[in-house]
Amino acid sequence: MAQIEHGDGFETLAIHAGQEPDPLTGAVVPPIYQVSTFKQDGVGGLRGGRRSASGHGASGHGASGHGASEHGDVVTGPGRWVEGYEYSRTANPTRGALEECLAALEGGVRALAFASGMAAEDCLVRAVCQPGDHVLIPHDAYGGTYRLFDKVMAGWGVTYDPVPISDAEAVRAAAAAHRPTLIWVESPTNPLLSIADIAALAQIARAAGALLAVDNTFASPYLQQPLALGADAVIHSTTKYLGGHSDVVGGALIVTDTGLAERLAFLRNAVGSAGAPFDSWLTLRGVKTLGVRMDRHCDNGAQVAKMLANHPRVAQVYYPGLPDHPGHEVAVKQMRGFGGMVSFRHAGGEAAAVEMCGRTRLFTLGESLGGVESLIEHPARMTHASAAGSPLEVPPDLVRLSVGIENCDDLIEDLRAALG
Ligand SMILES: Cc1ncc(COP(=O)(O)O)c(C=O)c1O
Repeated sequence: MAQIEHGDGFETLAIHAGQEPDPLTGAVVPPIYQVSTFKQDGVGGLRGGRRSASGHGASGHGASGHGASEHGDVVTGPGRWVEGYEYSRTANPTRGALEECLAALEGGVRALAFASGMAAEDCLVRAVCQPGDHVLIPHDAYGGTYRLFDKVMAGWGVTYDPVPISDAEAVRAAAAAHRPTLIWVESPTNPLLSIADIAALAQIARAAGALLAVDNTFASPYLQQPLALGADAVIHSTTKYLGGHSDVVGGALIVTDTGLAERLAFLRNAVGSAGAPFDSWLTLRGVKTLGVRMDRHCDNGAQVAKMLANHPRVAQVYYPGLPDHPGHEVAVKQMRGFGGMVSFRHAGGEAAAVEMCGRTRLFTLGESLGGVESLIEHPARMTHASAAGSPLEVPPDLVRLSVGIENCDDLIEDLRAALG
């Protein structure tokens, strides 16, 4: 039986953590437990001698996620697949396998998988914030995150202020002025690839009595591990690099505190935002190759950024691997590589940027990112349209590339031809 040991490397954890052979059949990958409910061994008695609190989610005590007992403790390891289940909204073995793996990869005490990245974000904000609380958010972030705070949370009395999270002193001043409950960070940011000094922000958050949450979607745990840098929670759109194949939508939270994990699991069970078994299985399959994919994304991203930086029809390139990127030194300090996301401003302005997005052969025009195939998009009209007119509005001549793992010469030729 493959068993992980303390000190196993990232690639080993990606393939083995939470993924020991199925104790029932010996299947070497976690089976898809496509099931809504589980036979109980007598009323209130779950498989493995565990006791149900009082039915799935009725009291909330047993709603702690995968393999929850009445005390809310979590079953991990081989027993996870055969014991302690009552209903798949509360806990499911395939989702549990993914969660165990993600917790190992990010170095957290527990991970929770969701139906989407936005469901994960929503759960974290509602578990941590009360009406009247304040949140600092990046002034450059995924448009959907901005929309969540501006259009949804604001209606429930949670206010926010955008801050330039690449400027630690600005965050310190905003934290002193606004006394936030939560400081929300993306690094690198979507779409301008700004870099936040996560260790510095963790100190600022701690001093201010706030939690630091880091959206690690662009980097993935292979390139950056925010919890080790002092963050309290990591958010993922697993739709992106973790899944890696543009075939599944999902999200995850990974945390360092078991009490917070319990609150998140309670809320997720109460509202029903957990990830489905098949989606969890697809994501876990993607995670196994995260390391090798990310290495290639980084190589291709760096070559594409270099070509664009020297191209006469490109006004500015945003890529943290370029030495003149303002966050380059911090990125070197906290990231293993610089990733596959590259944004640039077209020297021909908005019309030229829009036109180019429709002219590529291999870069497919589409939202999302992090898959093996390269994508191109126009953030102002697509992924970040919801930030129009806000402090998070993106430049109209901006083009965002998710550089895939195809042959890099082909990708560069495609971009050169489309730039004209
Ligand atoms: C950085 C970032 N965070 C969160 C999300 C939301 O994730 P999902 O689309 O899986 O809900 C996205 C989606 O693009 C994203 O880019």
